[in-house]
Amino acid sequence: MKDLIFPKEFVWGASAASFQIEGGWNEDGKSESIWDRFCRTPGNVDNFDNGDVACDYYHRYAADAAIMKELGLKVQRISISWPRILPEGTGQVNQKGLDFYRRAVDAMLENGVRPFIMLYHWDLPQCMQEKGGWLNRDMADWLTDMAQVIFRAFPEEVPYWGTILEPQIHAYHGHWDGKHAPGIRDFSSSLLAGHNLLRAHGGMVRAFRSSGAKGEIGITNYLPSHYPVSDRLEDVAAAKRWDGCWNRWFLDAVYKGEYPRDMAEWYLRKGIVLPKIHPGDMEFISEPTDFFGLNYYYSYFIGAGSDRWPLDVKSVKPDDRKYTAMGWPICPDGFYDDLMRCWKDYGKKIIVTENGAAFDDVVSEDGCVHDPKRIAFYREHIAAMHRAISDGADIRGYLVWSSFDNFEWALGYAKRFGMTYVDYPTQKRIIKDSGRWYAAVIARNGLDGSEQEEENG
Ligand code: FCB
Repeated sequence: MKDLIFPKEFVWGASAASFQIEGGWNEDGKSESIWDRFCRTPGNVDNFDNGDVACDYYHRYAADAAIMKELGLKVQRISISWPRILPEGTGQVNQKGLDFYRRAVDAMLENGVRPFIMLYHWDLPQCMQEKGGWLNRDMADWLTDMAQVIFRAFPEEVPYWGTILEPQIHAYHGHWDGKHAPGIRDFSSSLLAGHNLLRAHGGMVRAFRSSGAKGEIGITNYLPSHYPVSDRLEDVAAAKRWDGCWNRWFLDAVYKGEYPRDMAEWYLRKGIVLPKIHPGDMEFISEPTDFFGLNYYYSYFIGAGSDRWPLDVKSVKPDDRKYTAMGWPICPDGFYDDLMRCWKDYGKKIIVTENGAAFDDVVSEDGCVHDPKRIAFYREHIAAMHRAISDGADIRGYLVWSSFDNFEWALGYAKRFGMTYVDYPTQKRIIKDSGRWYAAVIARNGLDGSEQEEENG
């Protein structure tokens, strides 16, 4: 097979998030976040894990920036902990919190790694939850105020900005099934939370434009591809509903300025209370952005069923797929379909803001972490992305989840997604084989065809 080389300016990188790596949960004036609180209720997070120390990035950012360089990253995505910047949610800026991000960004830049700043990756100050959290309409303005502090602090050095990370996951797992903080379980509330998250996104885009800060801005959506389990009308309709809930509800709002009518009608039939849309809301939400942030992990195979009320669907796990340690089927073909679908339906240049896999990594006797399954995962997905580019999709970058093993939300530390192994008791880092492999991909700007032949033969 021949080498698969990417366009000249293609951006290679990796992603991480504040709560998942920072630790320093109550240091230097940081207040409690909803995830700090959520972790402290037994039963919410496996092994009763929490983010108190995580990867201790709060103290190890300098050495970690050197690891990012070793991974060959051109861009590293980090996110901002709102309770570190504005401990009371609004008002007084905590200079020490801001200084931390200044140091972290400078350390990256000194190592030749450019920062991608995600403004909100789910760690809301607990005090804002007490004001109603995402069910409170004012949240859009409050988060926009926080973002303005960050735009002012980094006017020059950030080439990519993200507003909200996966609004559907935060809205649905946080407010529909309660698997994530703040742990609410009410579908109507999840739609309201989603609406306010999207309004916050629009507010931040507008604030960014008027701030004069440099760089490009976009929102990152969680976008699994999906397939009906059969041609039966009920299964096709169920897959369409599933897509309507997880994908189109958010994408149509942001890129078309409307919520999908078929879903609104379905919800009303189910007795769901739809969010009240005030005049101007949809224009605000669909404020033009610069890129389409896409997170892809796996595909869903959906049929009609009685799960996931009010969707009435069932999700089937195919037998003919390999699975990651998360129990997610490995579907690089679904990645290709997803990229093509997003490109065709929404027509914006795409940055893949997350793609990756958890496996049960161990440190071998030679002191290394050999993770061939992760390398195969990346290779297949990068090849699928190359095919999508060849078929016309405008894809500008690819960020792996994740640079480091980290706190995997409700699953705690047991699930390892990193290209760098973190031994949590000692905080020692070991770059995994996949990290070395990825550095070589970046250096070559693509995949080495002979490597595939070797393995296939
Ligand atoms: C995504 C989240 C990210 C990480 C990966 C595995 O949905 O954005 O924080 O947990 O899943």
